[in-house]
Amino acid sequence: MELFRVTGGTPLVGEVSVAGAKNSVLKLMAAALLAEGRTVLSNTPRILDVTIMSEVLRRLGCDVSIEADVLTIDVPSEPGTEADYDLVRRMRASINVLGPLLARRGEVRVAHPGGDAIGSRGLDYHIAGLKRMGAEITSEHGFVIARADRLHGATIWLDFPSVGATENLLMAAVLAKGTTVIDNAAREPDIVDICSLLVSMGAKITGAGTSTLEIEGVDSLRPVAHRVVPDRIVSGTWAFAAAITRGDITIRGAEPTHMEIALDKLHSCGADIHLLGPGEGFRVRMSERPKAVDVVTLPYPGFATDMLPMAITLAAVADGPSMVTENVFDARFMFINEMLRLGADVRTDGHHAVVRGKEWLSGAPVKATDIRAGVMLVIAGLRADGVTEVSDAYHIDRGYPDFLAQMKGLGADIERIAVPDDALPF
Ligand code: UD1
Repeated sequence: MELFRVTGGTPLVGEVSVAGAKNSVLKLMAAALLAEGRTVLSNTPRILDVTIMSEVLRRLGCDVSIEADVLTIDVPSEPGTEADYDLVRRMRASINVLGPLLARRGEVRVAHPGGDAIGSRGLDYHIAGLKRMGAEITSEHGFVIARADRLHGATIWLDFPSVGATENLLMAAVLAKGTTVIDNAAREPDIVDICSLLVSMGAKITGAGTSTLEIEGVDSLRPVAHRVVPDRIVSGTWAFAAAITRGDITIRGAEPTHMEIALDKLHSCGADIHLLGPGEGFRVRMSERPKAVDVVTLPYPGFATDMLPMAITLAAVADGPSMVTENVFDARFMFINEMLRLGADVRTDGHHAVVRGKEWLSGAPVKATDIRAGVMLVIAGLRADGVTEVSDAYHIDRGYPDFLAQMKGLGADIERIAVPDDALPF
């Protein structure tokens, strides 16, 4: 087991660069399955989840390689049809092969992912949508098994604008016979990114970035080269880290138009935000104690649920009380238990958290429960008195390229330590 040990007291100052979005590249990799031949994805982040998804694709018969930030995927004429539990349990995004493989092969077996540390996450919208498109779906021995000779177009209303369901249904619809309409579709930049990849592959899609996607199925698609959209959650992490530590970070390569509410919250709490030129990123400076702001998570363009730990950490050191409300995942608040160990004053009631900010937190051993929770415990440790040890460091590897080097580059007093399991404090 590895942990990050961080000594508090240092503001983060300097520059970081942001690579492509984890939540986009994993789906673009799945979309590559829709066309035989070579797909090339540039601006790919070097993170553990990309390694896991590469393994998913290899087991389906693809050749996958990465050099610098360029990922190359060679897809055979008949990719395999099974994604087993061993991989799906390591990364839920593996279920994104369901739509493309069903569309291409007419048959697919994907292990049911179950829930995970941020809450129960069903597959019912994915399954109901594919059934509307003519798939027969059963669940046997922990697998979701889908079959369809040829999917057909359908009108699908999502109960909630689910990102994963929108993506899976999109990838199925592009090769279905006829027109599919997905209503109440997710509008995240990741959806716009996958639509732009699919359109350049030859798909016919309108409405990307709106609540209604219309897809006219085509017979086949061709592989293309594509640049992954910048990671707005990683960008937001550094932006909030600047405010929390009262530092000054220039975030190169970030796209501010994808995170307007998050930047507005930082502005309201007193941060100085300076936009650089188009495609260049932005700079966040904070010279005083942040003022308390209320935050409500919602599907895009609302404040991202993945940024909930950033909002809680900011509130924990802000001047005054804040109310933070989580509307997307039922167990995101697990993160709060670890923040309590750092001395944060947080009370929860249902999906609301009332946070009373403190000037300083207090360093302690804590545990990363997911990617974003893990990274924010490290950042919280910078605004804590003494030493904070964040165990289960691998969570951070899942989503943050070069995290240790970037933190050191910003002046953090941080190290990564391998610890035998029996030496852990809990
Ligand atoms: C993706 C992101 C995740 C982000 C989330 C919301 C990836 C790899 N992960 O997750 O980081 O936090 O979007 O922005 O891209 N739901 C159902 N039934 C379904 C599908 C979803 O009830 O069939 C519910 C979920 O339990 C959750 C809500 O819908 O409460 C949103 O989930 P969804 O948008 O699908 O999240 P993911 O795509 O899993």
